[in-house]
Amino acid sequence: MTTFSDRVEQVSISGIREVFEAASEDAINLGIGQPDFPTPEHARQAAVEAIEAGEADAYTSNKGTRELREAIATKYDRDYGLEVDPGHVIATSGGSEALHLALEAHVDPGEEVIFPDPGFVSYDALTKIAGGTPKPVPLRDDLTLDPATVEEAITDETAAFVVNSPANPTGAVQSETDMREFARIADEHDVLCLSDEVYERIVFEGEHRSPMEFSETDNVVVVSACSKTYSMTGWRLGWVTASNRRIERMLRVHQYGQACASAPAQFAAEAALTGPQEPVEEMVDAFEERRDVVLDGLEDAGLEVPTPEGAFYVMPKVPEGWCDAVLEREVVVVPGEAFGSNGEGYARLSYATGMEELKEALEVIDDATRAVR
Ligand SMILES: Cc1ncc(COP(=O)(O)O)c(C=O)c1O
Repeated sequence: MTTFSDRVEQVSISGIREVFEAASEDAINLGIGQPDFPTPEHARQAAVEAIEAGEADAYTSNKGTRELREAIATKYDRDYGLEVDPGHVIATSGGSEALHLALEAHVDPGEEVIFPDPGFVSYDALTKIAGGTPKPVPLRDDLTLDPATVEEAITDETAAFVVNSPANPTGAVQSETDMREFARIADEHDVLCLSDEVYERIVFEGEHRSPMEFSETDNVVVVSACSKTYSMTGWRLGWVTASNRRIERMLRVHQYGQACASAPAQFAAEAALTGPQEPVEEMVDAFEERRDVVLDGLEDAGLEVPTPEGAFYVMPKVPEGWCDAVLEREVVVVPGEAFGSNGEGYARLSYATGMEELKEALEVIDDATRAVR
């Protein structure tokens, strides 16, 4: 009789989908995890041209085209002054595949992976799929991850810890001091720091720093993607960068599980990375304006809400029954517990929605909050 693997039996389908399915078609959706902006025209055009010229028909090299990996390496030099060898990059099917490769290549059955709770849903699931044991840790009151909490959670069984800044679902941005600490912890304890930087360009105050800048070993693996920065979630194009030996192990998983990232998407990503960056700046400005409106609206409704400094999420503390009351009034939000047990008592709101809809949703939220108080 066919049975299923224990690893996969432990994983369930994300709770976020269930919320969407419960909502009516007319509801205002603040549950969405992708920018509501078009992919930059020059990126789309690059893919169209490559397709029409017949350049995107075949497999690329397993790691991705040389030109794309050079564009990614140039980006690290431009943004962080980091020297990345294009040979130490694998283009992946979104940041999701990159996270999967990193965990598959570094986690043995029974080993622990520490990650933020509330945190992005994939860390728990991909740890289990890799045969590892999830070790969620709580956040500070401002919803950032305290390096001291990570350090205390490390045991002899720890394979890796995940840092995600700017973060989903909180919008929190880790300080440079924290990033230096994460690098030190990875170096001193000889554990992997998996840095999920898919929101790296969507920062409103200060700037994003990567633990890779500060590590003196090769214990930091960085994952990023075009998905959020260039509003390219549907293209499925991300990457992972790490030392040669780590890339070589991840390539073994990628080669057999994926062969290469989609060729048309690779052409679009190369153009997105090397072309004009104004669309990114305009999008980030729009997100910042919306964030301010949403923060004001939530505070006016009497909710306590840490100020998110990046991504396009906000995570207020909410009274019991609040998510249902908001959903009944046709606004979709995601209950915090979808992101881990410490998310209970919070909700995630995405402001990747037009300003008019956001304002309408805030009125509904005001009404719902009064009703459950
Ligand atoms: C924190 C975080 N990491 C990774 C991903 C995966 O992104 P991609 O669409 O590139 O697979 C997401 C997507 O929502 C995310 O929020």
